[in-house]
Amino acid sequence: MAKRTVEVDVDEHGAFNGAELKQQGVVSYDQPLLSTATARSAITYIDGDAGILRYRGYPIEQIAERLHFLQVAYLLAHGELAPEDERQSFRRAVYDAEVDVERIDAHVNSFPVDSHPMAILISGYAALGASHPEAKHVKDAEMRKRLFPLVLAETLELGARAIARHAGVEPGRQTGDSYARRFLEVCGDAIDRARGEEAVEVFGRALDVLFVLHADHELNAGTNAMRAIGSAETDMYSSLAGAAAALYGPLHGGANEAVLRMLDSIGSLDNVAGYIERVKTHEVLLYGFGHRVYKNYDPRATVIKKVVDEVLETAGANPLLDIAQELERIALEDDYFVSRKLYPNVDFYSGIAYRAIGFDPATFTVLFAVARTVGWLCHYDELMSGEFKITRPAQVYVGKGERPVPKRA
Ligand code: ACO
Repeated sequence: MAKRTVEVDVDEHGAFNGAELKQQGVVSYDQPLLSTATARSAITYIDGDAGILRYRGYPIEQIAERLHFLQVAYLLAHGELAPEDERQSFRRAVYDAEVDVERIDAHVNSFPVDSHPMAILISGYAALGASHPEAKHVKDAEMRKRLFPLVLAETLELGARAIARHAGVEPGRQTGDSYARRFLEVCGDAIDRARGEEAVEVFGRALDVLFVLHADHELNAGTNAMRAIGSAETDMYSSLAGAAAALYGPLHGGANEAVLRMLDSIGSLDNVAGYIERVKTHEVLLYGFGHRVYKNYDPRATVIKKVVDEVLETAGANPLLDIAQELERIALEDDYFVSRKLYPNVDFYSGIAYRAIGFDPATFTVLFAVARTVGWLCHYDELMSGEFKITRPAQVYVGKGERPVPKRA
């Protein structure tokens, strides 16, 4: 390996223009994009070492306590909190949007009952794009603004109907005074209604907080996919399909489903120590632990713990929570996790809340995607509002040199 020194100008954010490297004849090999920024963004701030997350400058803990999901959606999209009249008109724009529910149903019902709802959601976004050819005018800021509440309304119907289809139940009709509450209604009997209307109210409030916590998280794998696809001037619906596909993986949004399956497989407190030993020999992962950015407690996990307590007070105790708490207790004291700065992430406890509401584990990532659609659209809008080139990384070629094809191959 040869040593080369290159000189670059570094700005006040500690960033240099990567194109300067290429001009000097070198590239940075950075498959996971650990130290490659692909956006200058003003939406979400994270300090992973300090465990800080802010939307448009507001701390996530205060946001989760004081704002509903649609207020957060407006804030993320517009950069400021909505004045009262705009807040109402934005809500109405979402709730009264002309969603082609028949078309969504035709799509959803084309899948066999029990299909993974993420498959329905991912393809559903692409299918919805066919109904909105105007979305191809990607640089049209007015079009993007107009479609924002419509896509949130379509996402509610598509996501909830995918969940109902998975459960093999009829979707319900939207009622209620929050986005999350309406979502639960469309899910029909795919959630637990046995404890009555008051319990569903509690679940709706909990889901609203969970949606708020998942609304954006700067450049995670899903959002990176949204921006990378958008950089080819692909319409927002097709870009959403790609972003949702990236989220689906168990190392990303699919981790909430993986956590529940892990807790189920551990089964009892007696098996916790044994599972931790298998994690330490790299045989299995401790799903819901670790984060690319947070090397400290994920601030969303702290808020989620409170939500879990509230939901379980209504739904009744869940032994999986005991297993999760024991895993956390051991992990936070064990050198394997301490030395690698592995802490619970947003997905460690969210699945316990979703399960208590009655959702099947296969639907958890849909719940994540429904909320994150806000962030994806905001990043797409930010990308389209500025100067950009198509995202087309360099590669380091390690294959064969030129060689002739044998005449008689
Ligand atoms: N369980 C066991 N070991 C882990 C875990 C984990 N959950 N996470 C990281 N490690 C270990 C790695 O094996 C590695 O050990 P080594 O140094 O001995 O090789 C070390 O910690 C560093 O981990 P990396 O894989 O380099 O960390 P990276 O930043 O690439 O990965 C990730 C982050 C994907 C989140 C990882 O921590 C993980 O796989 N976690 C479990 C899945 C999960 O919960 N994903 C949800 C993330 S939050 C979200 O997307 C919404």
